[in-house]
Amino acid sequence: MEAKTTVGVIGLGLGQAHLAGYLRHDRVEVVGLADLDAGLVERTASEHDVPHAVTDYRDLLALEPDLVSVCLPNFLHAPVTIDVLDAGAHVLCEKPMALNAAQARDMVAAARRHGRYLMIALNNRFRTETQILKKLVEQDVLGDIYYAKTGWLRRSGIPGPGTWFTRKSQAGGGPLIDLGVHMIDLARWLMGNPRPASVTGATFNRLSDSVEGVFDVEDLAAAFIRFEGGITLVAETSWASHVPSEGSYVKLMGTRGGAEITGNDLTVYTDLHGEQVDITPAYAPREWSDCIAAEIAHFVDCIRTGRTPMSTGEQGVEIMQILDGIYASAAENRMVHIA
Ligand SMILES: NC(=O)c1ccc[n+]([C@@H]2O[C@H](COP(=O)([O-])OP(=O)(O)OC[C@H]3O[C@@H](n4cnc5c(N)ncnc54)[C@H](O)[C@@H]3O)[C@@H](O)[C@H]2O)c1
Repeated sequence: MEAKTTVGVIGLGLGQAHLAGYLRHDRVEVVGLADLDAGLVERTASEHDVPHAVTDYRDLLALEPDLVSVCLPNFLHAPVTIDVLDAGAHVLCEKPMALNAAQARDMVAAARRHGRYLMIALNNRFRTETQILKKLVEQDVLGDIYYAKTGWLRRSGIPGPGTWFTRKSQAGGGPLIDLGVHMIDLARWLMGNPRPASVTGATFNRLSDSVEGVFDVEDLAAAFIRFEGGITLVAETSWASHVPSEGSYVKLMGTRGGAEITGNDLTVYTDLHGEQVDITPAYAPREWSDCIAAEIAHFVDCIRTGRTPMSTGEQGVEIMQILDGIYASAAENRMVHIA
């Protein structure tokens, strides 16, 4: 019988969802878990019959797993991912890939050095409606896409106030790197991952006065992103803003049609026999946990078959270049070219 893929998970906040995804996969054996919180890692391991629970992730690497999920605070993505790759395992690293593009490049270099896969966990690509829209774009239903808009705005949703999330040194930024990364990646992926050319950004910190502890990141960001060939994306994101309620969207405009995903609802706008038509594909949206499980099943499949993962480290570097550019543009009040 073919051997199972052995897996470890580092970080058991969001890592619980990764663990659940691996446990659902019949070709996977979870061999160990790592978290600084000894009680949490031991409880989680015993609940799911995982043989090893460790507080130092290097003890997990000593088990020589085939694949490791890195689900740590953002500042640890690069160093821990590189350690895992150096130990010879493939990595599924949570978003954002790193604090910046320089770290992201080092991660890609380590993956290449060791001939291992590095996939960035951008789970919105695994939603039913985003996968349907991707297929329609690839079948040229929208024609040439030249303009897109995306956003994820929260009315009141600063994550873990007082934790690493609100510290620039540990998170890399605020809602742009936390939520915006999902939506900018999603819009770019739907358009075929065009290369970024320049960005103009603005960041604000106007509604975080009452937050306790360090808050040295933005609470709202907006950006104007140009890609090679002139495709343009406008993006906005907030953890706190005076909007009706939390919501995310992506809108694509092409020469033959347009499309809009708001929440889980997909609508396509086009012409049929000279008439304007709105098409609403019939589908059941995936639960969030099912998107993570689908992402994990995809990565395990890539490792087992040698297929290239659909969210690569190289794509992740370009997303980090966009985010770096937006932050630099906002700080320096100028347009930033992306080399
Ligand atoms: N894809 C998504 O939808 C999604 C959702 C939430 C979070 N995330 C990402 O997942 C990552 C983790 O976020 P979170 O919400 O789970 O954070 P968290 O702070 O809730 O959990 C992080 C866990 O890592 C552990 N940890 C910290 N340092 C460690 C170390 N050196 N060794 C071992 N364990 C360590 C902590 O004890 C904690 O249990 C972040 O990068 C975040 O952006 C992604």
